Amino acid sequence: MDLHNIRQDFPIFKNQPNLVYFDNACMTLRPQCVIDAVRKYYEEYPVCAGRSAYRLAEKLTADIEDVRANVAKFIGAKKEEVVFTKNTTEAINIVAQGLNWQEGDIVLGTDKEHNSNLTPWLKLVKERGIKYYAINPSEIVNKIKELKPRLVAVQSFSNLDGTKIILSPIIEEAHNCGALVLVDGAQAVPHEVVDVWRNDYKDVDFLAFSGHKMCGPSGTGVLYGKRELLEKLNPLLVGGGAIANSKYDDYELLPLPEKLEAGLQDYAGILGLGEAVKYIEKIGIKNIEAHEKELNNIVTNGLKDEEKIKIIGPADSLLRGGIFTFYINGVSSHEVAIMLDNMANVAVRSGQFCVHSWFNANEVADAVRTSFYFYNTPEEAEKFVEVMKNIIKIY
Ligand SMILES: Cc1ncc(COP(=O)(O)O)c(C=O)c1O
Repeated sequence: MDLHNIRQDFPIFKNQPNLVYFDNACMTLRPQCVIDAVRKYYEEYPVCAGRSAYRLAEKLTADIEDVRANVAKFIGAKKEEVVFTKNTTEAINIVAQGLNWQEGDIVLGTDKEHNSNLTPWLKLVKERGIKYYAINPSEIVNKIKELKPRLVAVQSFSNLDGTKIILSPIIEEAHNCGALVLVDGAQAVPHEVVDVWRNDYKDVDFLAFSGHKMCGPSGTGVLYGKRELLEKLNPLLVGGGAIANSKYDDYELLPLPEKLEAGLQDYAGILGLGEAVKYIEKIGIKNIEAHEKELNNIVTNGLKDEEKIKIIGPADSLLRGGIFTFYINGVSSHEVAIMLDNMANVAVRSGQFCVHSWFNANEVADAVRTSFYFYNTPEEAEKFVEVMKNIIKIY
């Protein structure tokens, strides 16, 4: 990877030449090609797709469907199995609200799920009488055998500490027991090769991910589902664009994917997402993965022997993808983040990263999360180590 050239693609580095951006697990930066695609929509065909017959609308419809086909190819799916959403959260809620639950149905997740893959299930506990269990990942296969869940809803990589959950035994055991598997791929699709019919994701039933965590525009996301399962989902929203016909007392839904995409969509965002996927493919997901590990190794090796720094997750950086999360006993994570910003222009996330449940259960107040992407440099990682060493001298 030619980091110098890559960084030239990101206008933020021209506007903020000293910025060290390490909040990539929340939202990544955007290259010029994505910004151009968004602008092109507003400048050249700012109309509605999928409804009208004039040429501008037809062109937009064709371009949106091309993006759908490319996104599908990117994850090894079929075009009609890709539903555009606002984000991972919406994708998971579409499944949670769309399945036909019976009281007592069981959903299993891990004990480090993001609120977006926890609270949609807890809402069903409150409203429909299902049962939800948060399980240590090492026990999840056994718990599937024991509890015979209806659905297993697990993340692939933890946004808390970057730990990877090995999915294939979970998917296999869940299917043996007749359960469905939803994977929260928000921290996976941008960082490792995901193929819903190959590798660790093989045979997954639903996969949710966000465009803004992989260089796409804000408020873009995807729900993948096996066709026969998406067909059975009761839509979260109904209305324009999802309806084939209506009378005063009834309506008929369109087939997939429109059935699950009611209302005018974020066409600019979808076009930008299409460019983001192409851009990431050009960089190469395997290169991205290796580069993140290299940066994580620099930071981990630089700070692992500092007594004041408590790393969350495994000590071995190779087991934490592109995430390095830590806390200093008795010190507010926000204070550390503000110092990193003020002293060295380093942007990191502080707080509980929407995994309050883990912080509550483990009685840790909060933490600082450093998360890398392919445009970050080894020099930035070294600078972070140096500044952190200066910060801990204060305490
Ligand atoms: C593992 C995980 N799941 C879900 C989400 C929610 O993503 P979004 O806010 O894009 O819906 C995030 C966001 O950080 C995440 O890291």
